[in-house]
Amino acid sequence: MTNEPTSRLPGFYKQSLAERLDTVAARAGLNSEQRAALGRVGGLSADQADHMIENVVGLHALPLGVAANFVVNGREVLVPMAIEEPSVVAGASFMARLARAGGGFFAHVTEPHMIGQMQILDVDDVHSARLRLLEQKAQLLDLANQVDPVLIKFGGGARDLEVRLIAESPIGPFLVAHLIYDTRDAMGANAVNTACETLAPAIEQICGGRVHLRILSNLADRRLARARCAIPAAELAFDDYTGERVRDGIVEAYAFAAADPYRAATHNKGIMNGVDAVVIATGNDWRAIEAGAHAYAARSGRYTSLSTWAVDGEGRLAGTLEMPMAVGIIGGATKVHPTAQAALKVMGVTTARALAEIIVSVGLAQNLAALRALATEGIQRGHMTLHARQVAIAAGASGALIEQVAGRLVAEKTVRIDRAEAILAELRPDA
Ligand code: MEV
Repeated sequence: MTNEPTSRLPGFYKQSLAERLDTVAARAGLNSEQRAALGRVGGLSADQADHMIENVVGLHALPLGVAANFVVNGREVLVPMAIEEPSVVAGASFMARLARAGGGFFAHVTEPHMIGQMQILDVDDVHSARLRLLEQKAQLLDLANQVDPVLIKFGGGARDLEVRLIAESPIGPFLVAHLIYDTRDAMGANAVNTACETLAPAIEQICGGRVHLRILSNLADRRLARARCAIPAAELAFDDYTGERVRDGIVEAYAFAAADPYRAATHNKGIMNGVDAVVIATGNDWRAIEAGAHAYAARSGRYTSLSTWAVDGEGRLAGTLEMPMAVGIIGGATKVHPTAQAALKVMGVTTARALAEIIVSVGLAQNLAALRALATEGIQRGHMTLHARQVAIAAGASGALIEQVAGRLVAEKTVRIDRAEAILAELRPDA
């Protein structure tokens, strides 16, 4: 453990929004600008937005929550999450608290190697063209390295060239060259796409064909993030459920996702609830992460779970998650969006590697939150509580009455506006 302030924030959820912002700002040492970027609606100015995409007419905001309790590789981390779905931030925080008993999350990443694809058509003999390209690998890598001197300076650049034969396709056989490119702290799409476009004429010359598409692959299976945790069974106990029962129920739930693509899609969606929320909070490309995750889940030819859950030798619930994680901390929206910058600061993240390690840990925590609920009382109870609050507000409750009315609705298992109004009249007879 380090001397860092703890990510345990007891009672955080009970604070007002302004108090929570103060707590996080103080804990993360945010300056006034960063604090404002986190708290201000949208974080982004309309002027900044106008320079990001085309035809801008305004901003579209999402709630930004902060998950507590995370320990990743021994480091205490508060995790900003941008998401519209209730229960996600609470679920991640709760599971991160349980995981602390097993040391939190242990995460690592592979090198940040992205793949750029070049589709090579119209070659006379695909087999000899393939070898001719491989013979010229060193020269082609040199050429690719002339594209982005800044990335080279920071230790990135072209690492390898592979040439695949697509033997069967609707237009017959063709070649695909893969440029393996180390993008360091960048997500890297721009660098990789530029490198592929730069290489294309040389590739055409070497193999006498035509380079058609030149684009990054989102199946970033050379840029993986992995996390694991192990939770003592006793930590999982609640109400009438013993820890062993919850643990075994979670392993059974995982087996369903491992074996059935219909369940795996939903199971992985639960993982992505956590992953995307951090990806979005940090201004990264969540479509790229989604595409990579689901393609990776189908890499064996059968779509399956991205995570695993089992009982380890000490009777603990042991979980793992492995998935592509093409996120950066420089360039793109991450650099431009003030909230993204503040989010990185809240996490104390200064490398893409550290960010990926946190994100994959949050994905595992989120998966656990969903499985724990599904394997025990079901997912609706938590959702019902939130729904009941909304119904209570719609019935006219405010302040402390919201929780009182919502609590009664849930206890009675009747979350209806007429009932909420009746309870409210009982609690507030003078109104
Ligand atoms: C809902 O957003 C996510 C879950 O459906 C995930 C799961 O079923 O594992 C609860």
